[in-house]
Amino acid sequence: MSEATHTNDASGARDPPRLDGWPLVGNTVAFARDPFAFYDRLDSTGDAVCYSIAGDEFCTVFEPEYVQRILVEENERYVKAQAFRQAAAGFAEQGLLLTEGEVWRDQRVRIQPAFTPDRIQQYADAMVEYAERTAEDLASEAGAAENIVDVGEAMSELTLRILAKSLLDVDVADRRAVVREATEALNDRGDAGGASAFVPDWVPTPKNRRFRRAMTAFEQLVDDLVDDRRDAAGEHDDLLALLLHAEGPDGTTMSEDAVRDQMVTFLFAGHETTSLALTYAWHLLGRNPDAAARLRTELDDVLGDRRATMADLPDLDYTDRVVTEALRLYPPAYVIFREPTEDVRLGPYRVREGTNVTLPVFKIHRDERFYDDPDAFRPERWTDEFRAELPEYAYFPFGGGPRHCIGMRFARTELKLVLATLARELAFEPTYDGDPDLTMAATLRPDQPMEMRVEPR
Ligand code: HEM
Repeated sequence: MSEATHTNDASGARDPPRLDGWPLVGNTVAFARDPFAFYDRLDSTGDAVCYSIAGDEFCTVFEPEYVQRILVEENERYVKAQAFRQAAAGFAEQGLLLTEGEVWRDQRVRIQPAFTPDRIQQYADAMVEYAERTAEDLASEAGAAENIVDVGEAMSELTLRILAKSLLDVDVADRRAVVREATEALNDRGDAGGASAFVPDWVPTPKNRRFRRAMTAFEQLVDDLVDDRRDAAGEHDDLLALLLHAEGPDGTTMSEDAVRDQMVTFLFAGHETTSLALTYAWHLLGRNPDAAARLRTELDDVLGDRRATMADLPDLDYTDRVVTEALRLYPPAYVIFREPTEDVRLGPYRVREGTNVTLPVFKIHRDERFYDDPDAFRPERWTDEFRAELPEYAYFPFGGGPRHCIGMRFARTELKLVLATLARELAFEPTYDGDPDLTMAATLRPDQPMEMRVEPR
């Protein structure tokens, strides 16, 4: 790499290539009509490409080295992008996903103890226990004449229960509809295809009204959970306890609004993402019977008739690769947004202050420069040698740098334990043809119910 590439000085650098667009509307129409085709076009234009959407300046980067620079090496020169903040407006603005600077740092330090390896060890029991219950429910449904299950729904229910039990010590089975409606409304409003993400949230469109209503109900649910906790006798040792009692550097505890926003953040960020990852993993295993067979052989060899525990994870190597490969092909957090707070340099390019810089995880994960046969599901590819040679940030489903996913270890543990527990008992066979069409919403979601035939093993 040349000396010039490493300098932080943006002067003397050139603008990245630019997509032509119509005056005033820029590339808004092309993006809204088919965002996937739009990203393909960007990708074939250059390794960093600028364009305009709804009057705002965007730049998408396809080079892992630039990703590393943005998320890690020069993270202090970036904040979450305005486009991201706008799409999330009205959603947990004081929560960890959206705060910046000292406020963010203080929150991250307070919350981090809820995600240490020891803590995750404690959560592992809830993960396996709820997964076993789901396996029983699905097996009894599978025994009935109609054995087709909406796997997306089943995983959503399971991951929400695990999350709420682990982090808040509550069983939310009967209150799932509220969380679900808020998730749907946020996704609906954030749907990139509809370009509604670019309409400010105070504009009373039907989508924004639905979102407000759903958020109000969601916040009420969270307030009730907090009230229950304040009233409850007995010590708790979980995320909610930390939020209520942990003191910051100034010796104060978090405000009521901040506690609520954190809860909303965690119930959203930790639920939909893991549920999608599991759903895609079942889809991929259903489409690749050899991989499914290999997974089961590993589970039989390592576990025999025992239930999986956290201590088994180091031996569940193939299970780990299945999870890694599923997150490569279908990263639920499919684009990461940043905005430079000053002009910055990326390789030969200058990117101007205030540009919405997007890091398309889903494109880089299928780049044939890094992955042979990039669309194929091949858990075997994740050998130690392959990992060692892969450029850092050619794979980043959990982001990177100081703002990487705080729930990463939690999520990877959960994904492996749930897969191991269910795959021992059941097989899932998609009832639809091919791969699902996807929607770019707040997460990368299938456009259809993921209905699969459930067969007991
Ligand atoms: C497969 C599951 C998951 C995926 C793919 C995922 C992905 C991500 C990514 C890419 C980011 C970085 C966003 C950015 O830099 O702008 C992030 C941040 C975050 N994630 Fe996750 N996540 C997952 C599960 C979880 C879980 C289980 C939790 C909580 C229990 C969680 C809580 C959060 C929070 C609070 C942040 C913001 C962290 C910060 O800014 O300090 N996530 N996640």
